[in-house]
Parts: sequence; structure tokens; C-alpha cells
Amino acid sequence: MNFMNANLARVCREIAETAKAVGKGTYDQRIHLTPYAGWLNDPNGLCQRDGVYHAYYQSSPFAVDGGLKFWAHATSRDLVEWEFDRVSIMPDVPADADGVYSGSAVVLDGDVHVFYTGNVKHVEEGRDFDYITEGRGHNTIHAMSPDGSEFGEKTVLLANADYPADVTCHVRDPKVWESDGETGHRWLMVLGARRAAKTRDEDRGEVLVYGSNDLTGGWELVNRIAGSERFGYMWECPDYFELPLADGAAYPVLSFSPQGLEGPEWEGTNVYQSGWVSVEGPVTGDCELGGFKLWDAGFDFYAPQTFEDEQGRRIMIGWMGMPDTPGHVNKTVDHGWQHCFTVPREIVAEQAADGSVRVLQRPVAELAERRVNGVTAENDLELDGRPVFDLEVTGIQDSWCDVRLADELDISFDEESGDVVMAFSDTSQEGVGGGRGERRYHVGGLESLRVIGDRSSVECFVNGGEIAFSTRYYPERYALEVDAPHASIDCWEL
Ligand code: FRU
Repeated sequence: MNFMNANLARVCREIAETAKAVGKGTYDQRIHLTPYAGWLNDPNGLCQRDGVYHAYYQSSPFAVDGGLKFWAHATSRDLVEWEFDRVSIMPDVPADADGVYSGSAVVLDGDVHVFYTGNVKHVEEGRDFDYITEGRGHNTIHAMSPDGSEFGEKTVLLANADYPADVTCHVRDPKVWESDGETGHRWLMVLGARRAAKTRDEDRGEVLVYGSNDLTGGWELVNRIAGSERFGYMWECPDYFELPLADGAAYPVLSFSPQGLEGPEWEGTNVYQSGWVSVEGPVTGDCELGGFKLWDAGFDFYAPQTFEDEQGRRIMIGWMGMPDTPGHVNKTVDHGWQHCFTVPREIVAEQAADGSVRVLQRPVAELAERRVNGVTAENDLELDGRPVFDLEVTGIQDSWCDVRLADELDISFDEESGDVVMAFSDTSQEGVGGGRGERRYHVGGLESLRVIGDRSSVECFVNGGEIAFSTRYYPERYALEVDAPHASIDCWEL
């Protein structure tokens, strides 16, 4: 440690202690990871080591609206109760001076190896950088920790000069995994990139694939994946994984968060999207991408990351927040914090008789294990005063199911369009949604709905998890009403 990071560590520790003493107010979450103080964005470095889950997150402790980024560290034994440990990685070397940006972790022989982007913004007198093609450094950095808490020396693995000449300075968010060995490299890494075009609004998102045999060095470019058509200007937070199918085959998935999607399909949706495509062929060679599918059609979901836990489950956590959304107020800001993780979701692939595959996301089983005080009903249900709940509506007839929360948030099915709709009735900033309106997603028919509520969030899983809807909300009264003729309704406290 030098005086620079010793001081940063001390300030972060003091902020954490004060935040703990003061508390996070009425909208503090009970079953979701929230920042120890200040701002949170992407989940980073998700992994499990000796039974303990480790999560890091993009954290700005000094500014509730975001600012200089650190990696804060939390641990959990059940993916539900998280304990803040410390700020594990600080922007304290020239290669990450303007932010410890997103990245991933690999556990090898008990050590936690992290890979992240060191963000650098150059300032030169008399020069006006656009920070896209000039003035920015995005360094791919490695650090190692024997316990996941304190990290040693930072090594720059790749710098802008090492990336292909036609990409802009925006190359970030390394996700590393161990390959099956058939690719010629033991370790593979995807990086999100913005390829330069003649005019900035034609820049193109893509994924760079690097390979190495030694993890801590020797990374070389093996592929670039962009799809056949331009799809946004930047792909953030890429992730690649293979889901096992019942017949023993693997279903390859490339997940990413494209920025700049345009056209009628994206009207009335979030400013930035996160979703996935199937991959046909090796990611290290000639491969084709399937159609883009959203992970979550709600208001607050971005930059998800997955990992494989010690039981072999593929688990995804998203950032339950959405940047750059004017007109929306997050009512936790007054309490000195903003945003949280989604609940961890297990990702599974289900193959139908005709060979088609559905990728489903379901809250991890640990959540259902916490269920208490269950209430069972048919047709309808009204409950009051349950902020933290797990609601299941199954056997829905003719897609008829209306769930109304806090008198203002409706989740229902629109017969005419075949869409599931999440809508706040009061769209003003004073409303329960803090200025949110409506989101919809076409499913054709509604068979089941699972809704997980916390003090300031709602996550809905439609038809066994074929699509999710996540949103933050700020109720004054925790009322729950379900109208679903002939369906089975079960609700528990968590
Ligand atoms: C996604 C993102 C990443 C970046 C990080 C910075 O939300 O923009 O691409 O690494 O956040 O906080």
C-alpha cells in the first residue's frame, strides 16, 4: 500500500461506517444487494470460492449520482444476504486513474483473479478530446487476491495500442472463462468494443475475443464478432457461456448490452438494452449470431453478468438501474444511495420436441427457501403490508391475470397485442414509479407469473422465466391485489 490507496481506503471505510450508523431509509432493500454508500452500477467479478459467493460492483462512494468508480466487495453464503466487506480495488495507478471499470473474475487454485478495465481520461491544455477517438485509455488489467478481499499488484495485459487499429478508444469490460481446450487457448476473454466509422453515428458495436494459455499474460486477439448488420454503436459488458441441454449438447449464448439501438422496435423501450444471441459455430472462428432477445423488458435492468457456481449453475445478476433516464427520480437519493442488484437468476436452456430452445431465467432456489407465512387463494387475492414477498400465479386461464401493487403498478396482459404490460398509473415524479410509465413485451399468451417484491423493487418472471420485467418503485403503502379467475395464487413473505 502507498499513501494514495491508504488514504482512499480510509475514506471509503469511514463512509461505510457512517452510512451503516445512519441507515439507508425506508426504501432500503432486504433481499437485494445495495451499495454500502453512494452509487452502484454493474455487477463485477461474480464468483464462488470455497462455498462463499463473491460479488464486486461498480461503486462511486463519493457521489450518489455516480462519479469516480471503484470495485466494492460483498460476500454471501446464500446469494440473498450480502455483507459488505471493503472497497477492494481503487483507482490508484496511472492505468486506472479515472475509474476501475467493469470486469470479471476467475477462481484458480483458490486465488481470485480479476480482469477489469482501467479507465483513463487524458487532459491536455489547449486540446479538446472527444474521449471516443482520442484522449481516453481503456486498459485491460489483471490483479490477484488469495481471498477475494485484498488484491495485489495490477498488471496491464492490453492497452489501446494492442487493440485492432480500427476500433475507437472504447474497448472495455473483460469477461474471462476457461475454454474446453478445443480452441487452442486454455483461457478466453471477450471485450466490448466500439468500432470507428467515418462519422461517429455510424460507429458499430462488436466483441473482441482474446485467448491466452497462461491467464496472467500472453493474451492475443483470436476473433471479432459483430453480426451481419450494424446493431448499435457500442456493445458493453459482453459475456459468453454455454448452457447444457437435456441431450448433453451445449447451447452457446453471447450476452451483451448494446448502446444506440434505433428504429421502431426500440421506441418506448429503455435508452440502453441488455440481451443475448445464440452463437452458431465457435466464438474463436467463423460463427453466426441468432436474433437479439432482451433479458428483461422492465425499466431497470442493465449490464448483467453471469458466472458458474460450485453446483454448476449458471447464475446471472443484473444492475437494477438505468442511467441517462431524464424525468425519473430515484427516491433513495435523499438517503445517500442509489441502485441495487437484481436477485440472482439461474439461466437454463429448455429444448422443445421440435428442437427449438428457450432460454429461461428463474430466481435462484435460495429465495424460495426463505418463504414464510404463505397464503393460498384462487381467483383473487388482496394483501396489505407485505413489502418483501414472493407471489406465484399459475394455471392462468385465457391469459387473464392482473397484479396491482401499491395501488399504482399494474402487471397484466394486453389481449389485443399479446403483450405483457408493466405500467404505472401515475407517471409523475411524485408517483410510486418516480416518473416511470409503461413497458411491454410480446409473449402471445400468459400462463404463469412470478413476482418478487422488495421494499423498493419489483421483478416479474413471465411464463416460467421466458422474459423478466424489473423496476424500482417507491410505495407509501405495500398493497397487493391479484385478479386471475380460476388460477392458483400463492404468496409468501421472504
Ligand atoms: C456499463 C458501463 C461499462 C463500464 C462501466 C463504468 O454500465 O458503462 O461499460 O465499464 O459501466 O462504470
